Order: sequence, then C-alpha cells, then structure tokens
Amino acid sequence: MSPADHISFPRTAGYEADPAEVHRVLLLYSGGLDTSVMLKWIQDSYGAQVVCLTVNLGQPGEDYEVIKGKAIQLGALECHVVDARREFAEEYLARAIKANALYGGGYPLFTALGRPLIAKLAVEHARSSGCDTIAHGCTGKGNDQVRIEATVATLAPELKVIAPVRSWQMGREEEIAYAREHGIPVKGGTESAPYSIDDNLWGRSSEGRWIEDLGHAPEDDVFQLITRPEDAPEEPELIELSFERGRPVALNGEPLGLVELIEATAEIGARHGVGIIDHIEDRIVGLKVRDIYEAPAAAIVLPAHQELERLVCTIHQNQFKPQLDHHWAYLVYAGLWWEPLRGDLDAYMDQVNEQVSGTIALKLYKGHARVVTRSSPNAVYDASLASFAQSGGLFSQSASPGFIELFSLQSRMAWRLRNE
Ligand code: ARG
Repeated sequence: MSPADHISFPRTAGYEADPAEVHRVLLLYSGGLDTSVMLKWIQDSYGAQVVCLTVNLGQPGEDYEVIKGKAIQLGALECHVVDARREFAEEYLARAIKANALYGGGYPLFTALGRPLIAKLAVEHARSSGCDTIAHGCTGKGNDQVRIEATVATLAPELKVIAPVRSWQMGREEEIAYAREHGIPVKGGTESAPYSIDDNLWGRSSEGRWIEDLGHAPEDDVFQLITRPEDAPEEPELIELSFERGRPVALNGEPLGLVELIEATAEIGARHGVGIIDHIEDRIVGLKVRDIYEAPAAAIVLPAHQELERLVCTIHQNQFKPQLDHHWAYLVYAGLWWEPLRGDLDAYMDQVNEQVSGTIALKLYKGHARVVTRSSPNAVYDASLASFAQSGGLFSQSASPGFIELFSLQSRMAWRLRNE
C-alpha cells in the first residue's frame, strides 16, 4: 500500500491531483498552524517532497528568517521567500486605484488582489523546482480557493492542486493534537481560536469568533492596525496626495514609490482611526459573511483618486465609469484576474486616467477622511463660469429656458398622459 492510498477521495475537477501522482509539492507556506501541519501531513500522507514558498506582500510583523527556519525544520526541501511588494503595488494596486476598486460598496479587495499574484508565483516556483503539484491552505468555504485554483488552472494546465484543509477533516483541536505529536511548534494554547487574519500592504481582514454574530458590535481587540477612532488625536491632520495619470506619486509634496507611499499613508491614516470597515459580503461560493477590515491607505487613496477623476472627467464619463469600476471589482473579487475582460477594462481605465493628474488634500479626524481641496491642470472646471456672479462667454443664462423646455419635453408629455 502506498502512503497515498488512505487519502483517496473523489476528485471533481481535472486539475485536482491524483494522490498516486503527487511526488513533489510546492506548498504556499505562511508559517501558521494550518500550513505547518500541512507541510508534515503532505510528506506523511503522500510520501512526497515539499518545497515551500512564502510571499511577502507587505503584511506587517513577519519574520521571514523564522518562517524559513521553521519550514526547513519541518522537513521542507527548500523554502523560497519572495519579496513581491513592488510587483503587487505596480501591477495590481495601481490598477485597482485607477478602477476605484471596491467590492460590495466597501471592501478594497486587498486579499482578492494578492491571490492571483501569489498563485502566479507558486506556478513559477513549482516549475523551476520541478514540482508536479501546488498545495494551499484555503478552506472549501472561501473565495481564496477560487482565486488560487483558477489561477493555477489557467496559467499551468500541467500542474495539479491539493487543498488539504478541504479534505483532511481535522478541526482546530485535531490540528493542534497533530502538531504536538509531530513536534510542530504551536503558538498560544487550545483555549480559544484566534481570529482568521489575512493582510498585506493594502489592508487587513479579520473573520471568525464573535464577528460571525451579526448582533455583536466590534470588540476593541480586533483592531491591530488602526487606532480606535475614540483614541485618535484630538487635532485633525491634513494630508495631500498628488496623482499623475491616475497613479499616486507624492505624499505631502514628497515624491515616493508606490510601496512607500502606501505604507506612509497607511501609517498616518491608522493613527487617525481611518479605514475601519464592518462589512457584510456576498462570497462567490454563495455564502453571506461578515468581515472586519482595516484598510487605512485604501480609505485615503481611493476617495482622493475618485475625487480627482470626477473633477477631470465629463458628466458622461462620470456617469459611465462607475459601472465599469463595479464590474472590474466583481471580476477581481471572483478570482477572474486572468479573464480577458479584466484587461479590456484596464485599457479603458488607463485611457480615462490619462487626465487624472493633480493634488487632493484630505482632512483626517477621528475615523474620517474628508476631501477638502482639489487642484488639477485638467479640471473641467472654470471658477468664473460656476460663480453665481454674472458671467458671459461660454455660458449664456438667457439660453437656459430653451434648454429646460426641450430637456423636459418627454417627461412633461408622459406626466400629462398618466395624470389626465
Ligand atoms: N472576505 C475577503 C475576501 O474574500 C477576505 C478574505 C480573507 N482571507 C482569509 N483567508 N482570511 O477577499
């Protein structure tokens, strides 16, 4: 009997691995409990070698040397640590900003934007280290499995996938027992499950525990990134963001790379309690869930970008683009980053954003970020036209009654038909 015989389970999709053909696995390794148990479990259950990949997308407080050491100690052949912050910012976040990307009216998509990049890197490292299979730690109830597996199946039809958490039927207690038995260090005890956290440069999510009780208001200990608004400084702070062609390029007049700009903006926003989002969300797999997000940079950069866009675009562009923004966010949320429509939409976003240059100032105060000033060489705005004072030139007030008569024509006719 081969080691894999006792883990045979029905496979539904063509990209799911046949246990007998799993020889070397690329494991997306975070260093946490699930993926550490997985690292051992894959070696034991499949008799396979494991290569680990840990991706740095700017999640705060990680010690990558420690993660790497843990992987090697648990029997990984190698552990690759990749700093993908720049690629994440340039190729993913910059596009999200141009598309004002929010899903469900509030979620700035940080996890959804990170997954296709993580999975693309998994494909590259699986290929270069001779792996036949990619393993990840997502459950069978979330969106992340969709994003990762859709990416692998798209970019690398020759690679297979295993998702042990979906099939091994261990609960947290059993995982801890397995870890103890196999010498895997476990942080904390068995008493209470921690929040389920995911984070990167663009934000942080918490799920689980009391968050699942819709009647439970947020407990303070969930806020690890953002100062509680009631504890934020008594003095407001002004922050100035400058954009070139839709891309944020400077903070308070200082030119910064995108990673640095996002980090610095997040730090200021977090200090003022800005970016807390308590969100009910429609998952792609059908479930409705509640998430608590902390996204201080997104809560400043997105409204600033949107305001500038509104200023430089015409009424017609402003009516139209939000529909495409919405669709862009939905595709990315749904794990279809590699879908051609996303690229088509990006071409439109780029075209509109050609004009989106200028500076927006926001006032941050106890959980709020409010736009207070705008300036752009491309603003479709003329202070003398907008003024209540008499103006001539392009705008003739005496033309207005004619406009009103024609503009309201059909509405007036319909009103009469329905009311007489
Ligand atoms: N609800 C968000 C999303 O679907 C956040 C998911 C966080 N992922 C996690 N494994 N904790 O994108």
